[in-house]
Amino acid sequence: MSTADQSADRKPHVKLWGGRFQKSTDKKVDDFNSSIRFDQRLYKQDIAGSIAHARMLGKQKIIAEADSEAIIDGLREIRRDIDAGKITFLVDAEDIHMNIETILTERIGDAGKRLHTGRSRNDQVAVDLRMYLRDAMEEIRAMVMHLMGVLTTLAESHVETIMPGYTHLQKAQPVTLAHHFMAYYEMFKRDYARLHDCHARTNVMPLGSGALAGTTYPLDRESVARELGFAAISQNSLDAVSDRDFVIELCSVLSTVMMHLSRFSEELILWSSHEFAFVEMDDAFSTGSSIMPQKKNPDVAELIRGKAGRVYGHLMGLLTTMKGLPLAYNKDMQEDKEPIFDAVDTVKLCVPVFCDMIATMKVHKARLLTGAKGGFTNATDVADYLVKKGLPFREAHSVVGQVVFYSIAHQKSLDELSMDEYKTFSPVIEEDIYHAISMETCVNDRKVVGGPAKEVSLKAIENAKAYLTAEMSVSWAATLSS
Ligand code: ARG
Repeated sequence: MSTADQSADRKPHVKLWGGRFQKSTDKKVDDFNSSIRFDQRLYKQDIAGSIAHARMLGKQKIIAEADSEAIIDGLREIRRDIDAGKITFLVDAEDIHMNIETILTERIGDAGKRLHTGRSRNDQVAVDLRMYLRDAMEEIRAMVMHLMGVLTTLAESHVETIMPGYTHLQKAQPVTLAHHFMAYYEMFKRDYARLHDCHARTNVMPLGSGALAGTTYPLDRESVARELGFAAISQNSLDAVSDRDFVIELCSVLSTVMMHLSRFSEELILWSSHEFAFVEMDDAFSTGSSIMPQKKNPDVAELIRGKAGRVYGHLMGLLTTMKGLPLAYNKDMQEDKEPIFDAVDTVKLCVPVFCDMIATMKVHKARLLTGAKGGFTNATDVADYLVKKGLPFREAHSVVGQVVFYSIAHQKSLDELSMDEYKTFSPVIEEDIYHAISMETCVNDRKVVGGPAKEVSLKAIENAKAYLTAEMSVSWAATLSS
């Protein structure tokens, strides 16, 4: 596909709305107004929408059956030619809708001029965009499901990989890498559900709303909705051509996906550093430095983190474009396409590369365990031990505070203190303390639902797998019942 000011093999373009004009459009205005550069990606949806509309017009006897058939055949042929790259779009035909209608009329004559009966570009662009984003959501859905699957598989092999958990980026309590992976699984599961909700609100058919006030023709909106796979038809013509909340909602869902990817990327960047050395990205997912020969940089993770910014930017842009528009359609709304297309493209670029990056990274288990052991991550467990021996928690907290203070001064970890040393802090401490505060016990005794214990993690992983298998067979493509 390409665009041209005027294709060599086509007659000079006459504006479809040119009737009431005395002068032709200024060249600069043609360029300025035109959206064909970016809305040509809607051609499949535009043609499908026009075919459904033409078929309904014929059935309802609003146009002759023969014209309806000629239109449908003509549109199918145009679709094939665009697929084959044989069509050059015209900038002065403004957008994908008028480009296709113009080509149709060039090819089939007067019948083509009847296609736009009972329709406006305002409901046409709304139906096209809803169909396009519906498809995009299905693609992103599959990618997010794949990511959830990758996280589950990784978690399965790390239920015993102990690592430090952090708050304030200070070592807090030991967890496992499986628990960390499954935390992100939960976040992406909510993103997945948000995508589903957004899909349902997008899957509503606006054709029949006309420019803003509906139409006097006896349109059968339900049959058009059924043919185009919509689950419902819009209930207010002004609303249907005015709002872009489905675009904003999707951009918000995509921003949240990017926020989660970015946060995880940030952790992987930290973990790849010499200071942490918890993981190492595969060579295939790293890059070097043009000056420093020793460098191996986590560029992929950084770029994903960076790209989150552009998706948030699109969300702000869309909200701002819409905030002051009086009902109904305003040309400002043509500005909805580039941001949402770019947001969709960005997410479709980031999710798969992120999946492959984490699936191939090397995990340094020993470093993770060492990290978990330093920094008194089992101090809470010493306090819990004292509580089990009868001390009130607040008192236990204070005793352990003194133990930690002593240990720092003597450069020992809690499991390196001798029984004599422990006894100076509390007579209730006995030999069994060493077992109670080992990293393994700290993790595996946290059996509360949602905790990091191996048996709890395995259950969470099993639930995740069952969820993914069940979701695999669920179709989002609910349609209007006849
Ligand atoms: N290209 C326009 C858009 O993307 C299509 C709708 C134009 N409608 C109109 N009345 N100018 O919004």
